[in-house]
Amino acid sequence: MTPKQTLIKKLNTKTATIGIIGLGYVGLPLSLRYAEANYKVIGFDIDPAKAKQLNKGQSYIRHFGNEKVQAAIDAGFEATTDFSRATEADALIICVPTPLKEHREPDISFVTNTMDSLLPYLCKGQVVSLESTTYPGTTEEELKPRIESTGLKVGKDIFLVYSPEREDPGNPDFTTRTIPKVVGGSTPACLEAGKALYGNVIDQVVPVSSTQIAEMTKLLENIHRAVNIGLVNEMKIVADKMSINIYEVIDAAATKPFGFVPYYPGPGLGGHCIPIDPFYLTWKAKEYGVNTRFIELAGEVNSAMPEYVVNKVAEALNSQGKAMRGSKVLMLGIAYKPNVDDMRESPSVEIMEQLRKRGAEVSYSDPWVPGFPKMRKYKFDLTSVELTSESIQEYDCIVIGTNHEVFDYQLIADNAKTLVDSRGVFRKKQDHIFPG
Ligand SMILES: NC(=O)c1ccc[n+]([C@@H]2O[C@H](COP(=O)([O-])OP(=O)(O)OC[C@H]3O[C@@H](n4cnc5c(N)ncnc54)[C@H](O)[C@@H]3O)[C@@H](O)[C@H]2O)c1
Repeated sequence: MTPKQTLIKKLNTKTATIGIIGLGYVGLPLSLRYAEANYKVIGFDIDPAKAKQLNKGQSYIRHFGNEKVQAAIDAGFEATTDFSRATEADALIICVPTPLKEHREPDISFVTNTMDSLLPYLCKGQVVSLESTTYPGTTEEELKPRIESTGLKVGKDIFLVYSPEREDPGNPDFTTRTIPKVVGGSTPACLEAGKALYGNVIDQVVPVSSTQIAEMTKLLENIHRAVNIGLVNEMKIVADKMSINIYEVIDAAATKPFGFVPYYPGPGLGGHCIPIDPFYLTWKAKEYGVNTRFIELAGEVNSAMPEYVVNKVAEALNSQGKAMRGSKVLMLGIAYKPNVDDMRESPSVEIMEQLRKRGAEVSYSDPWVPGFPKMRKYKFDLTSVELTSESIQEYDCIVIGTNHEVFDYQLIADNAKTLVDSRGVFRKKQDHIFPG
């Protein structure tokens, strides 16, 4: 049998060992899914604490409970920092971060470093899949030459695919298994290997004709969101000036059965994807002499939103005859979206920073983030305030940054002196509530 036939047979009979590199928000659920589907899974991470915790059956991501990690361990899952064990794997799936550098240029060093550390352990008959979001061309330009530097030929000895992750953390309606998965291969044989890799654990695999198509598909999805969120944020500002409730407008427009997709305004973009990924395309497009104007414009509108909310806080305080300096402000929700504990790029934190710079005394309440964590850009020595009628009454202004379901909004509205609502929780006009 050829290396391809052997690999596909192992994948189809579930005798293949799956190596997942990067056990974060993407790599962990994927590992759990392969383990659930009865594959032997080895998880690789450079963070020894993460590996140790997972091996004890403990999840560090709230929405994947300990039970799921324990079930994976019972099915043979193990986490390690020892990359030499990559020789045991038939598939190597790379799920490491792809952030931006300071000047919004892609930082693909995590991907290239991972590939470099795997090179000594690559073997004939393996499939390598990149899942990290990146610009079109990364797989062919960065991974393929590295792999072939070992003497293995892509498409003959070893197989290379790109398959973007589509996780929506905290969304109970979709699981890793039920979210269709786009796969592009470096060669037709690579695509066949990719289809076998994912087709046995994901309900619907969507093959595309190249790795570049798959890379750009992911970017289009996220750019579509970033641009539409920018649009609706701009609409929010106009509607507010006209004293029109933007949420009622969106809900009414959403009754149109075709040609309209509802997007909701907010305090700015958050999370690891939407604020970052579009700029991967912006950077690559420059190589072709193209300026991605929609992306830049959406970035401009969205990144001005925290300041917009801060100005609303000033307006709310002003209505009480108070200045920002010295006022006590409580930020509700510091995770970047409802019902998760993930704070990456959270606009709430930028709002807190701006409020502090303007002299406010800032606190926060977020049941999913009990202590303010270490962040690269921000430092707050705070723990989450428990919400009671007394504690709410202590603040001059309450700001809803993230609309977690666990908040008691009636209690909040009844006891807040003033409230800035950046998430459209309160639809009915009330004198002390300011849409933000
Ligand atoms: N979080 C999401 O919802 C989401 C959705 C779709 C796509 N993505 C993309 O998936 C990729 C991973 O994102 P994430 O959210 O899982 O990131 P994450 O930060 O949660 O996890 C990345 C993990 O990789 C580990 N790591 C870093 N460098 C490594 C290396 N050289 N070798 C091994 N492990 C290493 C880190 O310790 C961490 O555990 C990114 O490209 C991201 O854009 C994320």
